Formats: sequence, C-alpha cells, structure tokens
Amino acid sequence: MAAFNNIVILTGAGLSAESGLGTFRGPGGLWENFRIDDVATPEAFARDPVRVHDFYNLRRSWHKAAKPNAAHLALAGLERKHGDVLTVTQNIDALHEAAGTRRLIHMHGELERALCVACGTSAPWNKDLTIETHCASCGKAAMRPDVVWFGEMPREMERIYEALGACDLFISIGTSGAVYPAAGFVLEARAAGAHTVELNLEPSDGADLFLERIEGPATEIVPAYVDRLLRR
Ligand code: APR
Repeated sequence: MAAFNNIVILTGAGLSAESGLGTFRGPGGLWENFRIDDVATPEAFARDPVRVHDFYNLRRSWHKAAKPNAAHLALAGLERKHGDVLTVTQNIDALHEAAGTRRLIHMHGELERALCVACGTSAPWNKDLTIETHCASCGKAAMRPDVVWFGEMPREMERIYEALGACDLFISIGTSGAVYPAAGFVLEARAAGAHTVELNLEPSDGADLFLERIEGPATEIVPAYVDRLLRR
C-alpha cells in the first residue's frame, strides 16, 4: 500500500453493532420491527409525533448503555496519529466522540440533541422527548430529535463532497450501501483518484465499486486495517 495523505472514513450501523446497537437492514434489523414510514419521516412526525418520540426515546435508552468498541477506538487512534482524517458517520449514536474522534460529521444528525421546530435551536438532550417538552430558547413545545429523516437533506454535504474530492483514501465501514447520498460517496472518491476500501461483515450493495474489500466483524478487521495503515 502506498502512503496516504487525506483520508475520509464513512461509517454506518455495522460499526456500532458490536457495541450492542442494532443495524437497520437484514435479519433482526430495526426496520424489521418498525416501518420507516411510521417513525422516520417528517410526515410520520406530523401525523403521530407521540409514536415518533417513543421510537427515538427507546433508541436513546439503548444508546445510553452502549460503549465504543475496538473499531471506534482504532479509528480515533488513526485520527490522532495520522492527522488528516475526516470521519463522516451515518450513525446518530455518540460512540465516535466517546472513543475520541474529533473531526467528525454526523450526516444523519445526533440522537443526543433536540431541535426546536419553532425557532431552529439545536441543543444537547439526553432525556426522553415528548410533545410537551419546551424549547429552552423560545419556550415553545415544538421539539423533535435532531436527526435527519427520510426525505430530509443530510447535514454538511458541501464539506463532505469537498473532502471526498480531495481525499486519496476512502474507507467505508459497516454500511449496507442502501441509502443515498452516502452510498454514492465511493464514486466521488474514485473520481478524485482515491484508493477505496470497504470493511464490512458481508459485501454491501455497492461492494463492486470498491478497489479493496475486507469482510469480517468491525472489531477485528478495523483495528487490523488501521494497524497496517499506521505501520507504513
Ligand atoms: N461489523 C461490520 N459490519 C457489520 C457488522 C459488524 N459487526 N454487523 C453488521 N454489519 C454490516 C451489515 O452487513 C450491513 O451491510 O453493516 C451494514 C449495516 O447496514 P444497515 O443496517 O443498512 O445500516 P446503514 O448502512 O448504516 O444504514 C444507513 O439507513 O435507516 C437508515 O438512517 C439510517 O443511517 C442509517 C442509514
């Protein structure tokens, strides 16, 4: 492997699976027990905010018990030792931060933040949210989880595309490649001439787009891959 200067890492639910947080697709995935249209769209929230709050309150309770695993820690170590690394996560958990990653974009928002629909203020939030929760800024009872729902624009896309256009290594970890725009990042990176690697339990929907692929559980293959990168 040649040395790399600018690294972009994309992570998905598979990275946090071994921290006890479920993935979305496949056997036992969250979308087997909940319908996206009932709990993860702006229309669902308009129709039945209590149901949507219940869904995210449940997930918040799971997240509270979760700790970063060896893969999160290895990625934080890569950032610390290598320097020019941008981590873009689709995960709304806070496990990258807990592991020590600093240059991080939560493109699908954060479960531990609440957003006021009335005034647009986003604030840290680690309790249950209800339709009666008041905004600390404007006082209105108009809070929602500060996450990106299906049909909404992911966060910081300009910064992400800029980084993809300048990277020479793109690593995709624990994501099925089923959801855009994240599933298209590999093509952006390849257009920039980057080496592209998929680290996943099984081949993702877009596995053939990657120049290198390693299959296995994230807690095994991510630390091993990071070690290889840092040894050069
Ligand atoms: N190690 C590595 N990969 C794993 C592991 C593991 N221990 N466990 C599961 N995986 C892989 C699965 O094989 C699958 O390819 O992680 C991937 C998880 O895919 P999804 O459940 O589709 O999660 P993700 O790609 O993050 O979903 C994208 O979809 O529902 C929305 O907003 C949600 O951000 C999410 C987006």
